Amino acid sequence: MRKNGRNVLIIDDEKVILDLTSIILKNRGYNVYTAADGVAGLGIVETVQPELVLLDYMMPGMDGLTALREIRKCFPDTYVIMFTGKGSEEIAVELMKAGASDYILKPFNNQDLADRIENVLKIRDVELANRELLRERERLLAEIETWNRELEARVQEKTEALQKAQAEIVQSEKLATLGYLSAGMAHEIRNPLNSITLFLQLIKSGIEDSEKLEYIDKIFKEIDRIDGILRKLLAASKRPKFEIRNVQIDQVIEATLEVFRPQTELHKILVERDYHRVPPAIQADPSEIEQIFTNLFLNAIHEMLNGGTLRIQLDHDGRDIVIRVADTGKGIPPEHLANIFDPFFTTKSIGTGLGLSVVLRIVKTYQGKIEVEKSNSQGTTFCVRLPMQTG
Ligand SMILES: Nc1ncnc2c1ncn2[C@@H]1O[C@H](COP(=O)(O)OP(=O)(O)OP(=O)(O)O)[C@@H](O)[C@H]1O
Ligand SMILES: [Mg+2]
Repeated sequence: MRKNGRNVLIIDDEKVILDLTSIILKNRGYNVYTAADGVAGLGIVETVQPELVLLDYMMPGMDGLTALREIRKCFPDTYVIMFTGKGSEEIAVELMKAGASDYILKPFNNQDLADRIENVLKIRDVELANRELLRERERLLAEIETWNRELEARVQEKTEALQKAQAEIVQSEKLATLGYLSAGMAHEIRNPLNSITLFLQLIKSGIEDSEKLEYIDKIFKEIDRIDGILRKLLAASKRPKFEIRNVQIDQVIEATLEVFRPQTELHKILVERDYHRVPPAIQADPSEIEQIFTNLFLNAIHEMLNGGTLRIQLDHDGRDIVIRVADTGKGIPPEHLANIFDPFFTTKSIGTGLGLSVVLRIVKTYQGKIEVEKSNSQGTTFCVRLPMQTG
């Protein structure tokens, strides 16, 4: 006897049919199970999960249609062929709708029975394989979707990094251009300005009229203003004489805050210090480091003329000193963010727009970084990183 390993369950209340069908199928190598009613049959389906059930339509107790529905609902991999009596073709249609794969009219012919079983099992094989393929396809699609999302996130990350690097290059170029032009220009303007001051002093010494003296003082003031702008321009574009010493950042911050005390008190600005780890001294020009804080504090105070909080955080990670200067001002509009470090960019009527350019030039001199870490209607935070080892 050739085994084909397929499990077939026959459910029929007629013992003759059970015995006969069993013999036919066993002879063809099937593992055959039998049950005399629907309930017993369902029990076997549950434990054996046969590939195929031959199910009688007319049975006492649970009828064939109910059993068929139950099997198809709970065990979709178990296919069912129905036995029906002659003259019940309409019922057959209903059975097929309920999920039967085929129906066989009783009494049946042995060869026909075997052929139909084989046929249904073949269809089952194809359908199951198909379902497996569909499942695999779904799984692969989901996997591709996940890869896509990961890829998109990585592209986005890289794009942002690239944009940041590009912005830094543009920024450096702007500084370089400024340096080239303004160093020369400032120098050229300062010479005649010195002469003007000198001649004005000569004129002033010979004048007694108080009104004219007042005008001359006004001219001096304006000259001072021009000179101030030129000095800032030079500071933003090139490094003036410098003096490298041990600089303790926290002490520089404290000294600068002390200078601003009258202003912070006047404008009711609360100063908060959050010194997480005080870094060791670095090698730097103290006046340059002070200039960083002077300009950042000036901007912050300007945003909080009606009070607020100036918060200074200090920390280091062993590599960089990290300083955050935060105000509770009205923030920088997003469309200005790309320009605030540009020379001459200002939104203030009396600003020169050089404050942050100077800061940027100094921070770059020490191979550091500066960025606006946060800016919204609650305020602005600048973050400065300075390497602990300058080289
Ligand atoms: N803390 C801040 N809050 C809101 N806006 C700021 C802040 N700091 C800078 N800005 C914006 O950036 C611009 C440029 O600042 P920057 O310090 O370079 O020049 P300025 O303050 O306008 O003039 P200067 O510093 O030369 O007197 C400012 O005009 C302002 O619009
Ligand atoms: Mg400023």
